Amino acid sequence: MRIFPSALLILLLLPFAWSTEPVRARRGMVVSTDVIASKVGVEVLKNGGNAVDAAVAVGFALAVTHPAAGNLGGGGFMLIRHADGRDTFLDFREMAPSSAHRDMYLAKANSGAIQSDYQGRQMQIELNESLVGWRASGVPGTVRGLELASSKYGRKPWKDLLAPAVKLAKGGFRVDYTLAESLKSSTALLGRFPESKRIFLRDGQYYDAGETLRQPELAAVLERIAEQGARDFYEGETARLLAAGMKRNGGEITLNDLKRYRAVERQPLRAEYKGYTVITAPPPSSGGVGILEMLGMLEGSGYEKGGFNAASTWHYLAEVMRRSYADRSEFLADPDFYRVPLGRLLDKGYLAARRSTIDRDKASRSEEIRPGIAPGYESMETTHFSVVDRDGNAVAVTYTLNGSYGSGVTVPGAGFLLNNEMDDFATRPGQANMFGLVQGEANKVEPGKRPLSSMTPTIVVKDGKLSMVAGAPGGGRIINAVLQALLNVIDFGMNAQQAVDAPRIHHQWMPDRLSVESGVSPDTVALLKRMGHDVVRIDTVGRLQLIVVNGEWLEGGSNSIPHGGAAGY
Ligand code: GLY
Repeated sequence: MRIFPSALLILLLLPFAWSTEPVRARRGMVVSTDVIASKVGVEVLKNGGNAVDAAVAVGFALAVTHPAAGNLGGGGFMLIRHADGRDTFLDFREMAPSSAHRDMYLAKANSGAIQSDYQGRQMQIELNESLVGWRASGVPGTVRGLELASSKYGRKPWKDLLAPAVKLAKGGFRVDYTLAESLKSSTALLGRFPESKRIFLRDGQYYDAGETLRQPELAAVLERIAEQGARDFYEGETARLLAAGMKRNGGEITLNDLKRYRAVERQPLRAEYKGYTVITAPPPSSGGVGILEMLGMLEGSGYEKGGFNAASTWHYLAEVMRRSYADRSEFLADPDFYRVPLGRLLDKGYLAARRSTIDRDKASRSEEIRPGIAPGYESMETTHFSVVDRDGNAVAVTYTLNGSYGSGVTVPGAGFLLNNEMDDFATRPGQANMFGLVQGEANKVEPGKRPLSSMTPTIVVKDGKLSMVAGAPGGGRIINAVLQALLNVIDFGMNAQQAVDAPRIHHQWMPDRLSVESGVSPDTVALLKRMGHDVVRIDTVGRLQLIVVNGEWLEGGSNSIPHGGAAGY
């Protein structure tokens, strides 16, 4: 077993008995939130597909089996590292339609109380048009993104990658308890839109665990995409259905917007941490910059000396998070519209100066760190999957509808839900949002722009060899979740399942509050409070999907319980 020397002592000091085991396999591994989708990926790998092929097939399968976040009507990011060391980043984030403008959501904001969180529970949110209904959607990017990945980096025929999703949509799949409960608890959102109500709520005859969910309209769309490629979604019958629905219901997306949508390839960000190379998401994600800033502040700090789950460790991590998130939304946005000061944010001198302001015994006050602009609300619902193939190619994909079940709108005749990604823009720049946070000009709505994201697909390499593939859902918490997965393996010697099961914390600068999962003990919380932290309990800081390469073994760790998981062969 790989145990890093510096971590051995710490491991012995762990306050828990870490008994959880990852899924282990030698040739290939897929981790996703849904084991049906993970198995689809493994079959592709077994049949000669590479990691990109498997990721594309998993992406389409999740669009069927995980309607809360798996999608055709959303967008995301794919990070690829080839076994020969080349890497690339595919940005298929949604784009604001051409009619979009800075103040488009000001006039019609109104209050309401709907939406369900990542576990499908009802949550009070302000109801406005950037969150719910036809005007909430950016131009979807997923189908273009998956096609770009497959055509440039895959080797299996496109049709073969869609076939499992077609089968799942047409023949149906077994609804499990989690999905049944999630659908039921999303009634307030899905019930507003007749097509969503019919398909996902069965007009009030809710699906129970064990029943079969069939989606014939979605199957027809997938079949057309299999035949005609992304052209169907952006210029063909599916595009017409989407644009017609928009027109009838006061939405913004036109046929022309769909036709103009492009997935783009960008250079991933990278930096060293303790001899590991961390390859991660560039803007329009804020996640990669966040991870690298935080690792830059942590390196050499000795933050881990107290051991995992010690108050001193959490305190230092919280201070690093506070400083990174303070930078986040003032300086980050779509790089095609805003000059992101990457060099400055990742400069070693800057990070050392940032680190020097941390007091090891006392919490800073966020308002003293830097006058800046805090991140806005981001939904907890998104989904991540990671794939490694037998040659060592690795793919990390995070994609999303933004909120759970997105805007709540299902495109009539097409059976897929649309995103509410417009809410990831600063929809009311300069004004406090529902959490009393003020959002920034850099991320204001502009036509053709991509909203700032926290999605952080990340790959780690050691001595030129693949070491980890990581990612998570969780809105603004994603960045901290991925950071802690990396630290748990590198600094605390955990295996993949331990690393995702271990308790996590979250600090996002504003509000000045330290959120901790239940595995942080009451004694530790008391110590953190004594240091000056305002500590609150939360259920989860992102649900991680992690692959760790451990010698000849691939370890799959998944936070998705009970139905999620890792599958290998
Ligand atoms: N919609 C969540 C994110 O992109 O961060």
